[in-house]
Amino acid sequence: MSDPDIKKGLAGVVVDTTAISKVNPETNSLLYRGYPVQELAATQPFEAVAYLLWHGELPDQGQLDALRAAERSHRALADNVKAAIDLVPVSAHPMDEVRTAVSLIGASDANGAGSVLDASGSREENLERSVRLFAALPAIVAYGQRRRRGQEIVAPRDDLDYSANFLWMTFGEEPDPVVVDAFNRSMILYAEHSFNASTFTARVITSTLSDLYSAVVGAIGALKGPLHGGANEAVLHIFDEIGSADRVTGWLDEALAEKRKIMGFGHRVYKNGDSRVPTMKAALDTLVAHYDRPEVAELYDALEREFVSRKGIHPNLDYPSGPAYNLIGFDTLTFTPLFVASRVTGWTAHVMEQAAANALIRPLSAYVGVDERHVPSAG
Ligand code: COA
Repeated sequence: MSDPDIKKGLAGVVVDTTAISKVNPETNSLLYRGYPVQELAATQPFEAVAYLLWHGELPDQGQLDALRAAERSHRALADNVKAAIDLVPVSAHPMDEVRTAVSLIGASDANGAGSVLDASGSREENLERSVRLFAALPAIVAYGQRRRRGQEIVAPRDDLDYSANFLWMTFGEEPDPVVVDAFNRSMILYAEHSFNASTFTARVITSTLSDLYSAVVGAIGALKGPLHGGANEAVLHIFDEIGSADRVTGWLDEALAEKRKIMGFGHRVYKNGDSRVPTMKAALDTLVAHYDRPEVAELYDALEREFVSRKGIHPNLDYPSGPAYNLIGFDTLTFTPLFVASRVTGWTAHVMEQAAANALIRPLSAYVGVDERHVPSAG
């Protein structure tokens, strides 16, 4: 028998169809339900984009108001979820905290333990669960950062929209509209990206007819890795290591000699630049001006210039979002949980799409272990 053609990492393999987003590496474009992501980021509140991903159309005012009312009703951290977070050691990675909290929300949902397709897993109920997680995650992420800083929890504010309230719960201060706008854009840009590793994980779990919460818990585990969501954190570590723009050349000489991967650069699909970067870089520039921190932009530009000219590998979304979140005041460890709060919208849209036309995802493998052998007979 001829050797099977193995696509390591499933690179280049098309495993299913999706109507949720289209990544086009040739034109460096990303469409959510047909809309260019940069247009959505420039014009929409994150709640409207969540609605779009779930329903396929942007909401009218009544639909947006209804989603906002539902989101507000699930904003406060439930007592048992707060207690569970408090049990997670502060030394643990916050992604472990987020994963634990989401798992408990699922276990506490009286109708949540079924499967995505049985009577308790209708599309309507999955939509409700999606809104519940979308609404709960900001409180989980915000409280996580505050508790690591030894600060008290801040209750949500009903008069603020999603992004402003998220910042309020994290910092306990009325956020500046410039900051809210940059943060809202980042949430929209991170929301969805077709069959990336965490979304595919969510679809694999859904394909067994497990429940939506389990799919999201699995996706959080996949997102934690530095080759996926963890990269925005890693960018900040690199910035801290380099220190300033004038040290980029020497640092890069050493890093490349050691064959290090430079986090925040490269992408499995985009090879000529990530469609989301210009929008996030523009948001970063507004933050640099707002906080009067030109040295951040200088370091950013110097590393990009030097790395692209040497390797021809372009920045991905994590490159501008890491420093943007840092300027806003988020701890580096909070960056990937922020990604969860955004991507939960895409994950749950994919759970519902997978459930609507399900086939168990179960690939084959080529066995390369020892040939058949037998246990020596006793005696
Ligand atoms: N720094 C240094 N070299 C890189 C690189 C990076 N960030 N990204 C890719 N390369 C190099 C690889 O070393 C490899 O070189 P080689 O052919 O000499 O071995 C070549 O480019 C191809 O890279 P490969 O890892 O095979 O591409 P991929 O499509 O499997 O990987 C990533 C894509 C995202 C995993 C990879 O670019 C990476 O690890 N980036 C850093 C992590 C990151 O920012 N992740 C967030 C993604 S949104």
